[in-house]
Amino acid sequence: MNVLTLETTCDETAAAVVTDQLAVLASVVASQDELHQRFGGVVPEIAARAHVERILPVIDETLRRAGISLAELGAVAVANRPGLAGSLLVGLTAAKALALALDIPLVAIDHLQAHIYACRIAFGPDVFPCVGLVVSGGHTSLYRCGGPLDFVPLGGTIDDAAGEAFDKVAAMLGLPYPGGPAVEKAARDGNPKAHDFPRSLLRDRDRLAFSFSGLKTAVRYAIAGPGTTFDSSTLTAKQIADLAASFQAAVIDCLVGKALQAVEKTGLRTLCVAGGVAANARFRERLEAECRRAQVSVFVPPPRLCTDNAVMGALAIERLKAGLVEALDLDAYPGLVR
Ligand code: KG4
Ligand code: ZN
Repeated sequence: MNVLTLETTCDETAAAVVTDQLAVLASVVASQDELHQRFGGVVPEIAARAHVERILPVIDETLRRAGISLAELGAVAVANRPGLAGSLLVGLTAAKALALALDIPLVAIDHLQAHIYACRIAFGPDVFPCVGLVVSGGHTSLYRCGGPLDFVPLGGTIDDAAGEAFDKVAAMLGLPYPGGPAVEKAARDGNPKAHDFPRSLLRDRDRLAFSFSGLKTAVRYAIAGPGTTFDSSTLTAKQIADLAASFQAAVIDCLVGKALQAVEKTGLRTLCVAGGVAANARFRERLEAECRRAQVSVFVPPPRLCTDNAVMGALAIERLKAGLVEALDLDAYPGLVR
């Protein structure tokens, strides 16, 4: 059976065709980066309008690449939570229209669970049970994952997501959007010990929580003190590299440290990490090294499966097999709690 999966939770318009054997027949991701670049972050209204323009061409292109027609679809799946309300509604409406017109089942996907499921797609069923860490532009969340349909939240950020911090620090340093890849590149030439930035909540072993807003402020004050204005064009390449490297080191310490605290607390021996920030090479290296030391198996999908894509919506196959299909009055849920 072929399943069309749609992903429009934030600023990527994505579709994929996957089979019930988890083979990926086609995957298309239309990025909106150039539309949001001059704002230094995703503008929700612009994202929603761009999804409206792109969703049908993206579906057409995905089916063309898969070499199948609409009539050969056995189900349609859509990420309906969490995300930007206007963006979610575009994918949801397209999925409902297809389900109604083709008389096929509609499957709902949790975008964060799908990020972790990317590890199952890349590495097979042995990734479960695990601690799952999703590190994206909107979320930094830990889960106990008993299996593909068993996700229990363990904790998350109390303010900004790690990706959000990368994007805002990039803007402060005069680097382009999306900030993650730009900060990673700048950090390569920097000294990660140049600035002693805070590792908030890392030593609080009672809480599986993250906080990145204080780190953002610390970077701001390292550029120019409180009450002063600054112009990022006055920063030298060396200053930018040192600030980027020191900021990145602080984020990585918190992510790796808390993920291992979650592993210790749950007694699980496997860690799955996904989401856009998991595309960061330095973060991946540190995860591998620390998990090797702690004798924990770690799985991080290839970068194209870390950033937003519709292949991870193959989680729909698990839901279909369990009979978890939706009625056509399915809603979109922007927040974490349904
Ligand atoms: O998962 P994702 O594609 O979309 C959301 O669901 O949010 O994550 C996007 C986030 C952005 O904040 C972006 O700056 C960050 O992931 N990101 C990175 C890297 N590539 C993307 N952060 C650090 N290093 C990277 N190489
Ligand atoms: Zn995402």
